[in-house]
Amino acid sequence: MLTEEKLTLERANHYIQENKGNVNPLYRPTYHVSAPVGWLNDPNGFVYYQGEYHLFYQFYPYNSQWGPMHWGHAKSKDLIHWEELPVALAPDEWYDKDGCFSGSAIEKDGRLYLMYTGHVVENDVVTQTQCIAVSDDGINFEKLASNPVIGAELLGDEGSIHDFRDPKVFQHEGTYYSVVATKTHDHRGKIVLFSSEDLNEWTFFSVLLEGTKEQGIMWECPDFFTLDGKDVLIMSPIQIKRQGHEYHNISSTMACIGQMDWETGKLTVENFHEMDFGMDYYAPQSLLDDKNRRIVIAWMQMWDRTFPTHDLGHQWAGSMTLPRELRVRNNRLIQRPVSEVYSQLEYEHGIENLEVGSQPVIFHHLIKDNTYMQIVADLSEASQFSIQFAKQAEQYLRLNYETESSTFTFSRKNFGYELKGAEKQPVDTRQFPVELVNQQLILEIFRDTNSIEIFVNGLEVISATFYEIEKGSDLVFHSEGKTMIGSFETAIIKA
Ligand code: FRU
Repeated sequence: MLTEEKLTLERANHYIQENKGNVNPLYRPTYHVSAPVGWLNDPNGFVYYQGEYHLFYQFYPYNSQWGPMHWGHAKSKDLIHWEELPVALAPDEWYDKDGCFSGSAIEKDGRLYLMYTGHVVENDVVTQTQCIAVSDDGINFEKLASNPVIGAELLGDEGSIHDFRDPKVFQHEGTYYSVVATKTHDHRGKIVLFSSEDLNEWTFFSVLLEGTKEQGIMWECPDFFTLDGKDVLIMSPIQIKRQGHEYHNISSTMACIGQMDWETGKLTVENFHEMDFGMDYYAPQSLLDDKNRRIVIAWMQMWDRTFPTHDLGHQWAGSMTLPRELRVRNNRLIQRPVSEVYSQLEYEHGIENLEVGSQPVIFHHLIKDNTYMQIVADLSEASQFSIQFAKQAEQYLRLNYETESSTFTFSRKNFGYELKGAEKQPVDTRQFPVELVNQQLILEIFRDTNSIEIFVNGLEVISATFYEIEKGSDLVFHSEGKTMIGSFETAIIKA
């Protein structure tokens, strides 16, 4: 446990080596990134650097609860197999002594730059500034002597220095820019833009976008990029108000799609929507790789929820989603699993033309910890089609589609440990509209030990965690009217 000893990199790395063997593996994911020991939240510094994908993350090694933030680090050649690397940043300077908060990475002249938030608490007052660390080898980082590079003077009256964080740095026409989250004096989310020629000297550029009262009290973790001819801002609003089927979690993610005016530095939003309809999706961050793919990864968790791996003393908490490729279609951001994941599939079963009606079709012992499945179901003669997933006695995850209302439902109600949250109503079920494609429902399901990601018709995604008390392995199909499952394939995801 923590003493007054300084939180240095050496201390963190030593602690990890000594303690990672004690982590309880019961709920540990097999192909999603999690910390070797301790707590993980937001993805940080997600970047393609010298032929490899680097992923940093908000990390507190000493406990399975949030604490003074370090940056954990892993790298991968294929986005599936990750190599654990030494901790990249520790809160060891006056300007980041209470945490190296979220940020991003960029390459310049062959060196890797991390831009992050220095978090300081003095007499209960928080001050947040933007700082930079640089590396020649992508592993060992040195903080700039000129830190913080963006502080109160540059922010001026455009935001609050107490909530000023999560810089995402990028290049546009030869100039460096960074979007940073802050808030207005009347507690609305606000994203500001800074510019620099050398990553060291910064100036205030513009207010990119400001939220309404309904859109949350603060926006966190902005990311800004151009994709498919559109300018896209993604961010994570705190306490955005529920609107129909959207934004039911205490904090959400939002994609704003529109056009940037580089003269004024303002984004005109043409459409905005929630990015993922699950219970556990937050703080997504993207990169552009050598194949020109825009790939996003997010923390597969939500603030203020029950964390069973902490409560049970398993000594770890938190994991990332699968990396997903982003596209813009009809002014919506859509996500699909990166293609690399498919080369990790080892096919198990394949069935064609399975007719399902009101008599349940049951497959025993089908679902494993790392099961993938794809279902293509024709619903032209059905009013409803449902799946009980990982069923054991009366416990299962429920997936359901109603044709009349074109509504998809996912529920983890009564499945394993009860997961409470800060939401006014429990968030154990979510519903959203999604159109069938030629009368077909196409589901791709990626299950890991304690999570499920469901891609619906290539248009919507649901990410959720769970903690089974007794493992369920059955799968049940049921339909009102006739559902023709044209193809049903299952595989194991090797990692
Ligand atoms: C988002 C966030 C960021 C902050 C970090 C602290 O989940 O609250 O705004 O930088 O987590 O760990």
